[in-house]
Amino acid sequence: MIKEITVGELNPGSFIEEHVEEIRKAVGEGRAINALSGGVDSSVVTMLGHRALGSRLRTVFVDNGIMREGEPDRVSGLFRGLGVPVEVVDARAEFFTALKGLTDPEEKREAITQAFYRHVFGRIVKESGARHLLQGTILTDVDETVAGIKRQHNVFAQLGIDPEEAFGYRILEPLLPLRKDGVRVVGRALGLPEDVFNRKPFPGPALAARVIGEVDPERIAVVRRATAVCERHLEKLDVFQFMAILHADRVPGMRNGKRMYGRQIEVRCWDSLDARNASPTRLPWGTLEAVASDLLQELPDVVSVTYNIAPKPPSTMEAV
Ligand code: XMP
Repeated sequence: MIKEITVGELNPGSFIEEHVEEIRKAVGEGRAINALSGGVDSSVVTMLGHRALGSRLRTVFVDNGIMREGEPDRVSGLFRGLGVPVEVVDARAEFFTALKGLTDPEEKREAITQAFYRHVFGRIVKESGARHLLQGTILTDVDETVAGIKRQHNVFAQLGIDPEEAFGYRILEPLLPLRKDGVRVVGRALGLPEDVFNRKPFPGPALAARVIGEVDPERIAVVRRATAVCERHLEKLDVFQFMAILHADRVPGMRNGKRMYGRQIEVRCWDSLDARNASPTRLPWGTLEAVASDLLQELPDVVSVTYNIAPKPPSTMEAV
């Protein structure tokens, strides 16, 4: 059982001190490695690890080809600016090969897990000689995985999988007692800029969590464009998270006076405290119309734009 630290109980200063010490003790004279995605959790764990280990922490950004527009450069540049060197590894081909032909959500998640831990990151860790991997798993990830709601890609011990045996390294998860609100408080105390610690969460499987059916470079490009449109309109709103989802089915539509089978984009926007429950944001109709109008204009294949009004549960926030 992991003892939860609620945001009310959290003293960020002593939390940081304690975990810096713990990381130093675990790693000893060795080296640690971590993967940075730019999300709140991995950003906070990167800063914590950097504070504990300095240059003995190697931070890698794996470009898996399924990130948002410009993300590898933006994230690595931001951390370099904070004094944390980040290595960008181009693994796009490997991830798309692993995802080829898969349509089942669990199989897609599993393929991403395997491509990341066993192949790309596993290889980087082995070559680096690091015996410790720092990871930003939080309590909500564990809860949902144990409850069988979703196979989070970053939970092993809780599923009875020994990462040392399976992948050859030990995993350190300093954020385990926290939920997202607590992680943000720690991020602020670590000196991260507000747009990082208050950033909207983004899932490990990245845009693949928003592509129903097969994930390929072309379908990722569609959802990436749609995501950029949603960001433009929704980023500044006080909501927990929003997303554009590409559906698998094509539906009849009309473009330039001709019938065609077009793509369907579903927009979701969530109000939530900690992602365990969520309700769709009551967005103004004008905002929804503006999103739809830009999606239809910038994505010539799209003929249908819908807005999700089902809460979580029974929905999940992501589509995959
Ligand atoms: P769901 O879709 O499970 O999402 O309702 C709840 C929250 O978790 C994020 N999410 C993930 N985060 N790895 C992550 O790091 C994952 O595999 C993953 N799946 C979902 C999702 O974006 C939402 O904030």
